[in-house]
Amino acid sequence: MNILVTGGAGFIGSNFVFYELEKHPEDRIVALDALTYAGNLETLKPVMDCENFRFVKGDITDREAMDRLFAEEGFDIVVNFAAESHVDRSIENPGVFLETNILGTQVLMDQARKHGVKRFHQVGTDEVYGDLPLDRPDLFFVETMPLTASSPYSASKASADLLVMAYHRTFGLPVTISRCSNNYGPYQFPEKLIPLMIANAMADKELPVYGEGLNVRDWLYVEDHCKAIDMIIREGKDGEIYNIGGHNERANIDVVKTILKEVGKPESLIKYVKDRAGHDLRYAIDPTKIHDELGWEPETPFDEGIKKTIRWYLDNEEWWKNIISGEYQQYYEKMYADR
Ligand code: NAD
Ligand code: DAU
Repeated sequence: MNILVTGGAGFIGSNFVFYELEKHPEDRIVALDALTYAGNLETLKPVMDCENFRFVKGDITDREAMDRLFAEEGFDIVVNFAAESHVDRSIENPGVFLETNILGTQVLMDQARKHGVKRFHQVGTDEVYGDLPLDRPDLFFVETMPLTASSPYSASKASADLLVMAYHRTFGLPVTISRCSNNYGPYQFPEKLIPLMIANAMADKELPVYGEGLNVRDWLYVEDHCKAIDMIIREGKDGEIYNIGGHNERANIDVVKTILKEVGKPESLIKYVKDRAGHDLRYAIDPTKIHDELGWEPETPFDEGIKKTIRWYLDNEEWWKNIISGEYQQYYEKMYADR
């Protein structure tokens, strides 16, 4: 099979490329990425010379370029990871989120229709369900919940999901959608909570915790997400939506304290800062459907995954130190200076 992985130089996309090449050496993987600030070609270096792998620099909103690529490659499956993915950036600058996350998805689906792709898989997020209250631990996100959104990022992802289901119903495009909770693991850009806290702790910099740090996220090790998508694109039912999550809820402050303990740094580095606008309180996934229908189960418990992740960031300082120079420094100053 010939599989297009968009956003393949980003965090989850690159982990998915590695997962697929290892698990299905008989398949061909084409990674497409615009190499925005979040995409890093360095990440794909270990697989660049693989015979069944190709990297293409390109923008999913570029209709002509996508048309050429789909015509040339004749993809069987498209897995769309490409997106603007950081909530804080969407609050600063929503426009590019709408362009990439909504219009880019439309361009890809038009090409999938035109060139007879057998499955278009949209990598969605649990943020499209809005949030859950902190005092109702009995509530979880299920696939049938109506969509709602708190940030321009989640609104753009919810819009894309709606568009995907509309293309399925109106045009008969074979689709699946997955909605996963917060991922962590190697190659995550250090603007996101876990790698940011590891990087700051290592540099003895303050750890900026939004509000009181009581917001809850449901953490999943990235490889478990990749395994779920792999199962969905091969065995998932056309037109279905699958939630992905491992029942691993933690308050942000507990995650931050765990990291400090693991790297041997004092809690005095924690600085409570101004809260994120519209900050979602709690995410929690009910993964019953993917478990019952496809037999998916997460394999990496948080205590093990966080240790592996910290070890990876300690062993790969060059990877993240390179990418946090330049544009990211300006972003960091702007986002955190007045908090
Ligand atoms: P990321 O920001 O690390 O990677 C996104 C990649 O997309 C980058 O390599 C970037 O260069 C590329 N990209 C951006 N705009 C593009 C464009 N116009 N054309 C082509 N490539 C473009 O994000 P991530 O955390 O790996 O997330 C990947 C996907 O998974 C996103 O769709 C996100 O919404 C979804 N998701 C993420 C999480 C999470 O916790 N990180 C959880 C659930 C779902
Ligand atoms: O739930 C899935 C989503 O998870 C994905 O769709 C998004 O692409 C991904 O970025 C992530 O969104 P979050 O907003 O949950 O992740 P982030 O790492 O930005 O923040 C996690 C929590 O930590 C959130 O409650 C905000 C808080 N936070 C974050 C940063 C960057 C802080 O307290 N301080 C910080 O500096």
